[in-house]
Amino acid sequence: MTENILYYGDNLDILRRYLKDETIDLIYLDPPFKSNQEYNVLFEERNGTSSKAQIKAFKDTWRWDQGSAEAYQQVVESGPERVSKMMRAFRTFLGANDMMAYLAMMAPRLVELRRVLKGTGSIYLHCDQTASAHLRLLMDAIFGPDSFRNEIVWHYRRWTAAAKKFQRLHDTILFYTKTNKYIFNQLLIPYTKGSAKRKKQGVLHRFKRGEEPVLVSNRELQAEGVPENDVWQIPFVAPSAKERLGYPTQKPEALLERLIRASSNKDDTILDPFCGCGTTIAVAQRLKRRWVGIDITHLAIGLIKHRLQDAFGQNIRKTYGVVGEPVSLTDAETLAKDDRYQFQWWALGLVGARPIEQKKGADKGIDGRLYFHDEPKGGRTKQIIFSVKAGHIPSGHIRELRGVVEREKAQIGVLLCMQQPTKPMRTEASSAGFYKSPWGTKHATMQILTVEELLSGKTVDYPHSEGVNVTFNKSPKAKGEKNEHPELNYPEE
Ligand SMILES: C[S@@+](CC[C@H](N)C(=O)[O-])C[C@H]1O[C@@H](n2cnc3c(N)ncnc32)[C@H](O)[C@@H]1O
Repeated sequence: MTENILYYGDNLDILRRYLKDETIDLIYLDPPFKSNQEYNVLFEERNGTSSKAQIKAFKDTWRWDQGSAEAYQQVVESGPERVSKMMRAFRTFLGANDMMAYLAMMAPRLVELRRVLKGTGSIYLHCDQTASAHLRLLMDAIFGPDSFRNEIVWHYRRWTAAAKKFQRLHDTILFYTKTNKYIFNQLLIPYTKGSAKRKKQGVLHRFKRGEEPVLVSNRELQAEGVPENDVWQIPFVAPSAKERLGYPTQKPEALLERLIRASSNKDDTILDPFCGCGTTIAVAQRLKRRWVGIDITHLAIGLIKHRLQDAFGQNIRKTYGVVGEPVSLTDAETLAKDDRYQFQWWALGLVGARPIEQKKGADKGIDGRLYFHDEPKGGRTKQIIFSVKAGHIPSGHIRELRGVVEREKAQIGVLLCMQQPTKPMRTEASSAGFYKSPWGTKHATMQILTVEELLSGKTVDYPHSEGVNVTFNKSPKAKGEKNEHPELNYPEE
């Protein structure tokens, strides 16, 4: 049995480094499509409006460059024979373009995913129209055409805009298994009242008005409903949905629930190598599966940690590991050197604050915010302003930050920094006085926390208790394994 684990990093590297052969029962992957988009996280302001402060969570643009040429070369030279042939055929047909770069990125990852999948395992590859045809051929080359089971159409409704073509209202999910001996739990669509009545009367076919009658087998008649088909009508995660966390491309829990129930059993291990804000992980946890998640941004890893805590309570943190997060000052310095934003996302994540990328205009001088409530229901939302410094801290920075706190009418300002602050900085901070909460507790208005202190578990001093931090949209509390999305009558497991 695998331990539940979240990996920060590039999934190709993580798969090769940490995941053993044939250890995973089910894989769901939702890679960024080749659609030239930048995905922004749009956090909501506390008054319900969309925040102006956006964060570029990830980019899904691929360009044919040195990196993709090398990736292509590697699959062609050392990948399985069929995959090598398919990639060469793609190259002849497509040339060196963006789609080719995307396929060169996907091919070695899919080869690794096949390696880690158990003989009885299944893989669901989520794609849209941009690359689904190409990915189907690539999957055929990697898993074999005989391992193809379904092309699932996820049909949803959303706002449409006039265009000189039909509205696109579906995604495609390619379902393959590693062998023909695989786990599959039949899911049943409950009978409508009319069908249930006809069933009782022993009528041997079901049909809707205007449709051809469909013969129902005796086995089907005895069951509690009709076997699920390959068109899944599941609503999008709407802006008002309770489960919405503000992460772009977040998928509905109901979608994951359906495929996890169909292709795994309790205690099986589910892998999501592009796990985003952790939909697969949250559903796997609720359904008592083991899980492994990988994502390349600290923003996603931070959100998943919050999501799990909100849905399953504080103690959940003791039940899973996180690999790839800085655990020492040297790690944190390396992260800051590699990517300043990742460092900020990680540091802010540790104190439960949300990052802000816009440095001009309204948010000048602010790297993150944390909102809290310390008044009776309906009272004002209070806030903490964060500045994050990986390198040198300019003299006068605490004074400037204090100015920002006053300008924003915030209650507390916090500097998160790698270096030890100088004595004048400490003096300046302590001269700012205290914020007094309605409960009578006192908290320094200006606080300085070093990375070393953060790593030893120290955190911001503010009126703190469960439910006070209202910075992120909260994931609703999970209600055991109960089916929370009753489109289907899931059988007891
Ligand atoms: C389409 S989103 C997945 C959304 C997810 N299904 C959900 O419900 O939140 C794709 C994710 O893949 C991550 N990603 C992109 N390239 C990656 C890579 N090479 N390794 C690991 N994660 C990657 C991005 O950071 C992003 O979070």
